[in-house]
Amino acid sequence: MASGSSIFPRNFKKDYPIAVRGEGCWIISADARRFLDAAGQAAVVNIGHGVAKIGQAMAEQSSQIAFAHTSQFHSVPAEKLATRLLQLAPANFQNGGRVYFTSGGSEATETAIKLARQYHLESGQSQRYGVISRRQSYHGSTLGAMSVSGNVARRAPYQPLIPEWGHISECFAYHHAGNLEDEDYGLACANDLDNFLRGPLGRPSAAFIFEPVVGATLGAAVPSTGYIERIGEICTENKILLIADEIMSGLGRTAKPFAIQHWNVEPDMILAGKGIASGYAPLGAVLVSARIVEAFERGSGIFQHGFTYQAHPVSTAAGNAVLDYLDAHKLFDRVASISKILAADLEPLRSHPNVGDIRGMGLLTGIEFVKDKKSREPFPPSQNIAERIRQSALEENVLTYPTQGCVDGLRGDHILLAPPFILKAEESALIARAIKSALTKVFSS
Ligand SMILES: Cc1ncc(COP(=O)(O)O)c(C=O)c1O
Repeated sequence: MASGSSIFPRNFKKDYPIAVRGEGCWIISADARRFLDAAGQAAVVNIGHGVAKIGQAMAEQSSQIAFAHTSQFHSVPAEKLATRLLQLAPANFQNGGRVYFTSGGSEATETAIKLARQYHLESGQSQRYGVISRRQSYHGSTLGAMSVSGNVARRAPYQPLIPEWGHISECFAYHHAGNLEDEDYGLACANDLDNFLRGPLGRPSAAFIFEPVVGATLGAAVPSTGYIERIGEICTENKILLIADEIMSGLGRTAKPFAIQHWNVEPDMILAGKGIASGYAPLGAVLVSARIVEAFERGSGIFQHGFTYQAHPVSTAAGNAVLDYLDAHKLFDRVASISKILAADLEPLRSHPNVGDIRGMGLLTGIEFVKDKKSREPFPPSQNIAERIRQSALEENVLTYPTQGCVDGLRGDHILLAPPFILKAEESALIARAIKSALTKVFSS
């Protein structure tokens, strides 16, 4: 396709408008079209586009010092942001927790995998190395992160390159609970981890990683009752670390700083990314709890890992400015209130014969489309329903995030909505109207 572009694109068969400006929940393209960003791009733009203060804070930092290598220096904005993130985290991150900053989510996952391995080495448990994860999850695109991801489509081409440490049940009641009560299903899914750990493949395990609310792959699937609590117990009993991947669900998206705080379980590490700098700079983080830090302090003292751009002063300055903005505008509280409005606007869509489920938490919402509402049978993948819904909503200038495969990696269609926290009631109504129109276009054609 001759597009005149020099950028290696994600998809050669697609045309990409050029984004030139952002204002609140809107993106404006070079041809002057205005798009309502109902997915915060990919659950990234938490505070909205075009907040001049963030750029000013970055310019100010860059004019003081833009870069100092972390083998020689720490920086003021990185220190400040680390302290603030730890204050937002559960109690076991206070008094001795630390933050390892990266340039994005995948690097945070890589860092956590290595931290888990080295923690056990420092603790005299050299036989432990594997990181167990769940089917139908996503933790990043680098090879280590792919090894713990269960997203079938994203893994498929690279299968020969990816080590396998074990994947357990995804805990997705809508399709897999069958006749079980939600609580019984949740317990069974959690006990899948216990069973795995007792088997021969489970013995060398170092950690378990999971998304408390499964974002892109399952379309904002919330865990069953009791699931996370039981997972926490199993990790403690088996002396493996619990890693909460909050790259999508963290930093207020579910109305709490981290989604895991809805369940009162204390993970050993929390991964952050995306909303941490709201897209204004590439930034990710691993929040490391006090007991992991202690093992390193007591042990070798050296973490065998590093990125040139870790804890970048300008990116962490953006992170601080974004936290300032969230605080000043009480945006975590706003997620709680505006998400109710969005849910109410979407509610009438539930009665559509092809809307199987509307689910999620806070401003992380999934809408799943099914062929048969009663049996929950999905459409054949060849019908490309999720992408067609995206295209039809785009005709109404509303941007959504489509994914296929929520049922078994191949079948199942959903879109994700993750708008900025500053979403206005009239914008929420526009989103619902565009999806309603997309349903009419896609399912009556
Ligand atoms: C839950 C989760 N983990 C990890 C990642 C990877 O983050 P990044 O794309 O910033 O590398 C993503 C990105 O979509 C994600 O949603």
